Amino acid sequence: MGDKPARWGLMSTARINERLIPCLKRSERNELIAVASRSQNAANRYAAAHGIPKAYGSYDEMLADPAVDVVYISLPNGMHTEWSVRCAEAGKHVLCEKPLALSVEQVDQLREAADRCGVTIQEATMMRFHAQTSYVRKLVAEEAIGEVRMGRGLFTFTLERPGDIRLDPAMGGGSIWDLGSYCVSFARTVLQVEPVEVFAVQTTGPTGIDMSFSGHLKFSTGAFFHFFSSFASFTQVDADLLGTAGYLHLDLPWVNRVNQSANLRLVREAGAREASTFGDGLGNRKTERRVFVGVDAYQDEVESMAATVLDGAAPVISLEDSRANVAAITALCRSAREGRPVVL
Ligand SMILES: NC(=O)c1ccc[n+]([C@@H]2O[C@H](COP(=O)([O-])OP(=O)(O)OC[C@H]3O[C@@H](n4cnc5c(N)ncnc54)[C@H](OP(=O)(O)O)[C@@H]3O)[C@@H](O)[C@H]2O)c1
Repeated sequence: MGDKPARWGLMSTARINERLIPCLKRSERNELIAVASRSQNAANRYAAAHGIPKAYGSYDEMLADPAVDVVYISLPNGMHTEWSVRCAEAGKHVLCEKPLALSVEQVDQLREAADRCGVTIQEATMMRFHAQTSYVRKLVAEEAIGEVRMGRGLFTFTLERPGDIRLDPAMGGGSIWDLGSYCVSFARTVLQVEPVEVFAVQTTGPTGIDMSFSGHLKFSTGAFFHFFSSFASFTQVDADLLGTAGYLHLDLPWVNRVNQSANLRLVREAGAREASTFGDGLGNRKTERRVFVGVDAYQDEVESMAATVLDGAAPVISLEDSRANVAAITALCRSAREGRPVVL
């Protein structure tokens, strides 16, 4: 076990950093020592505002600092692969924001670089570090709702920020990459199987990215999962799973709000099934609830990264896992473009 904390550098002054900075600061096994920006002035201002000791005016300068052990990459999606490889080649471990890459070939490049350079590259899909996700995975594995037949997820909001990186096709924009990627990751994680066939439709905006995306996945077990992601809808998140013996509902499946509880509702039969003409009675049910209070999945994410870097613990999200997620998303995108189902 390493005695010294893992020393982190932030690559960019992105807004998402603000979720990780307090976690790194309160962590005993991590230390935030640097931030890099394309502009020295911006880096200086950011370092002063957030109490970060070192400020670099280019990403390369931070990579040349031997004191930095781990780089948190919060760049636009289209820059994740290039900079993850450059970090690895500078001997740095990487926690890179989701989506880790935009093609399976890019994930293969990352795997090659991580192996060659002897570092860890891990995707920062916060939801995967959340206790609720592991709990749902366990419930599904124990067949708490029987065999899963269908799942559903919503992740939507209204994007009102002209010039946002999410609108730029060259940067890997689109609601599927930004929001739908969580739904796909959730479904694969809790079902613990991979999709075998997908179908999708989308509505594109003026920049060419999808503003709304409706994706359907069929898994090798026969389970279906449907999700809707959108930059042009009322803000909503939720997910559910329907099985042969029960139903699960989550009101905050992929958003981490430390001050807001995540509520899980499990509905199952209570005793003998109610007699009804078609076997479709809704009586004899019990509802159980589990509430996750005060969970900060970003804290769990940085602690987990410390365990990987300092103790050699296996990453929560392996590169094989990220590759499978990217494979499913790129198949969904292809289906939406070509207007036909795609077999994986
Ligand atoms: N895990 C989560 O909960 C979560 C939530 C939101 C976003 N994300 C992910 O985090 C990443 C960043 O998202 P964000 O919304 O926080 O980003 P953002 O605020 O738009 O910031 C992106 C940063 O990237 C740098 N950058 C370098 N080249 C750029 C370019 N050509 N155009 C724009 N910015 C450029 C800029 O920093 P400098 O100018 O300082 O170099 C900029 O501040 C994305 O991959 C997103 O998917 C994750």
